Amino acid sequence: MRVTSTKSLFSSSPPCVVAIVFVALVLSSADLCNGGKTSIYARKPEKTGDMPLHSDVFRVPSGHNAPQQVHITQGDHVGKAVIVSWVTQDEPGSNTVVFWKENSNEKRKTEGEVKTYKFHKYTSGYIHHCIIRNLEYNTKYYYEIGDSDSNRKFWFTTPPPVSPDAPYTFGIIGDLGQTFDSNSTITHYEQNPRKGQTVLYVGDLSYADIYPNHDNVRWDTWGRLIERSVAYQPWIWTAGNHEIDFAPELGETEPFKPYTHRYPVPYLASKSRFTPQYQWLQQELPKVNRRETPWLIVLMHAPWYNSFNYPFMEGETMRVVYEPSFVKYKVDIVFSGHVHAYERSERVSDIASNVVNGIYTTVKDRSAPVYITVGDGGNVDGLASNMIEPQPAHSAYRESSYGHAVLDIKNRTHAYYSWHRNHDGNPVEADTMWFFNRFWHPADESSASQ
Ligand SMILES: [Fe+2]
Repeated sequence: MRVTSTKSLFSSSPPCVVAIVFVALVLSSADLCNGGKTSIYARKPEKTGDMPLHSDVFRVPSGHNAPQQVHITQGDHVGKAVIVSWVTQDEPGSNTVVFWKENSNEKRKTEGEVKTYKFHKYTSGYIHHCIIRNLEYNTKYYYEIGDSDSNRKFWFTTPPPVSPDAPYTFGIIGDLGQTFDSNSTITHYEQNPRKGQTVLYVGDLSYADIYPNHDNVRWDTWGRLIERSVAYQPWIWTAGNHEIDFAPELGETEPFKPYTHRYPVPYLASKSRFTPQYQWLQQELPKVNRRETPWLIVLMHAPWYNSFNYPFMEGETMRVVYEPSFVKYKVDIVFSGHVHAYERSERVSDIASNVVNGIYTTVKDRSAPVYITVGDGGNVDGLASNMIEPQPAHSAYRESSYGHAVLDIKNRTHAYYSWHRNHDGNPVEADTMWFFNRFWHPADESSASQ
């Protein structure tokens, strides 16, 4: 789980789940009205396979030992550091990141670390991680990696300084995989006129684990596939079940081994590494000063509120334990993946239900988050299309399509949200909502949804 505020834009946590914080006098309202919408849009249900290994999107960059699979993520708690990661295949090569501000000739250097891992019969390339610190806010930086005969240059822009009215735009992608539909999702995100500055990734990355022996070559192809976005803007990671890679039949008993070697997170900044997730979250949520960082967003993999028929109640035990805290601390939005479809909930809670007591009290609750499932990145398992009928009252909108979402935070009170299906043109918004911040403007938003 990961919790972040606009101040602590990206903190980190144990690898199995993530929450983001950015948000009331809120009272539980009466019964839940049934106003949900099931999209009439019907796409063909067949799934597309993974793109073949020779696909151009998996191309290895030219040059001897050239850096590949380049990706960045936030490197500290306040947005002034970035972790740069890349792989070299033939030899370790340079471990240095050279970086400089746009319109500046003053270049700085930082040295990173390099490591490899083995998984069954696979041996990884040389995986480099380098934290560059003391960056200025709201500034474009260029960075260069690799040896002189094959170096590569990229850039990124740091977030704005902490302010309750700092605008910021997130993309949300989940369960991406590496099919033709996955590629379409990335392209739609890149070409969306509403430009995401950072991706909130809700778990299940490469789907390498579905291959014989969890063929880790598919971790490498996935790294090359997403480079065109993640080398230029941070992707904030949440681990899903496809990152576990626990395979005792192959002699592999270290959970999350490929994921943690490849996709580091700034766990030290949030003091999360050695703390059980529940304890960490109980300490983390009260730290969020909503007067400074208004929006409180949580990322996790398996959704708590889901009106598709599978997976069935996989998030339920977690919901029972965690949901009271989410309501108490007035989380604005929870983004999840895992279900390969799109769904947005009403603001609801179900505090009294504990799985075994037979009490079901899902009610509209203005202190509760909106739950959004964006497990529709396009992976090889195909779409979830089997829905619970009639549509439960907590489900505001649902659709069995691939796509991505964008959350455009305007100020302390308002954020504009849109979901985009891959079959539409880039500017088309298939589902939208104006979010009202739960701390500053805890009004009912139901009239603001489409
Ligand atoms: Fe999953």
